[in-house]
Amino acid sequence: MKTFTLPGTELTVPNVVLGLMRIQEKTDEEVRTLVKTARDAGISFFDHADVYGSALHGCETRFAEAMQLTPSEREEIVLQTKAGIVREGPYFDFSYEHIVESVNGSLAALGTDYIDILLLHRPDALVEPDEVARAFDELQAAGKVRSFGVSNHTPGQIELLRKSVTQPIVANQLQLSVTHAPLVAQGVAANMQALDQSISRDSGTLDYCRLHDITVQAWSPFQAGFFSGTFLGSPDYPELNAAIDRLAAKYDVPAIAIATAWITRHPAQMQVVLGTTTPERVAGAAQGSDIPLTRAEWYEMYRAAGYTVP
Ligand SMILES: NC(=O)c1ccc[n+]([C@@H]2O[C@H](COP(=O)([O-])OP(=O)(O)OC[C@H]3O[C@@H](n4cnc5c(N)ncnc54)[C@H](OP(=O)(O)O)[C@@H]3O)[C@@H](O)[C@H]2O)c1
Repeated sequence: MKTFTLPGTELTVPNVVLGLMRIQEKTDEEVRTLVKTARDAGISFFDHADVYGSALHGCETRFAEAMQLTPSEREEIVLQTKAGIVREGPYFDFSYEHIVESVNGSLAALGTDYIDILLLHRPDALVEPDEVARAFDELQAAGKVRSFGVSNHTPGQIELLRKSVTQPIVANQLQLSVTHAPLVAQGVAANMQALDQSISRDSGTLDYCRLHDITVQAWSPFQAGFFSGTFLGSPDYPELNAAIDRLAAKYDVPAIAIATAWITRHPAQMQVVLGTTTPERVAGAAQGSDIPLTRAEWYEMYRAAGYTVP
């Protein structure tokens, strides 16, 4: 497993991490096997959110109940969680009160004294940067949160936060898979009037994150679209799966490793956030941490997924 020092922190992190959005209905044994498989593969970084699960803090609670981590086991891993979504509504809330209340709830649910990284989950139209800064300062001073980041944020939204927030923004978690890649595809088709792909939907978020040492974390790495099912093995993507299968044979890894490698091969040094609850898939994806796909192979997958190289 490839690891690196997460810029803006002193954490050593793997470039493939495990998301726990889908563990609500899993038994203790299933959660333990999933996490053990991840740990055995070098995945020591776990992604949560207050809103994952059937009730608020549901998946965080499920994880803690199943794992019963000792203090030393807790210190061996990185726990990341998110705040800012109010499911009833739904709406977004970056107020001081909401952020602090959410973190206190996550600490209790996870049974820990500290969150390694807190992400603001989705941009709040009513954000007041000074309030966010006050919440971050207080949570950091109390030792409750060590580092801060965002998710689904544009450069302008991050700049606005940075006007008041003094801590480094260390991560931006964004939807990215080979079939859902506007982050990279727009740049490839820049200055092409006739191509929809050339339209900027995120104001150059990927380049901004690279320029500012903000680590991109790719969520839904195997979903074709927005929770629309995986492209792996899907009859909707015959060309892509043919390319993936051929590369899987070449590198002697499962197909899921090649789908992972399409993201880890990108020089932005991204982290891939797995969502599968199937241990074999976690182990297979982890094998994609450091596969040296050539430029020709990377672009072949990109074209086979339906993107244009003008
Ligand atoms: N920041 C955000 O806004 C945001 C949004 C969504 C998710 N996330 C984070 O990102 C993580 C990953 O998201 P995701 O779960 O949508 O990503 P994903 O890893 O692309 O999708 C996993 C889902 O696909 C299913 N699947 C079916 N066939 C599969 C195959 N061949 N290979 C792999 N998976 C297959 C899995 O089922 P099985 O479980 O049965 O294997 C699981 O339900 C979440 O856990 C969460 O931590 C963040």
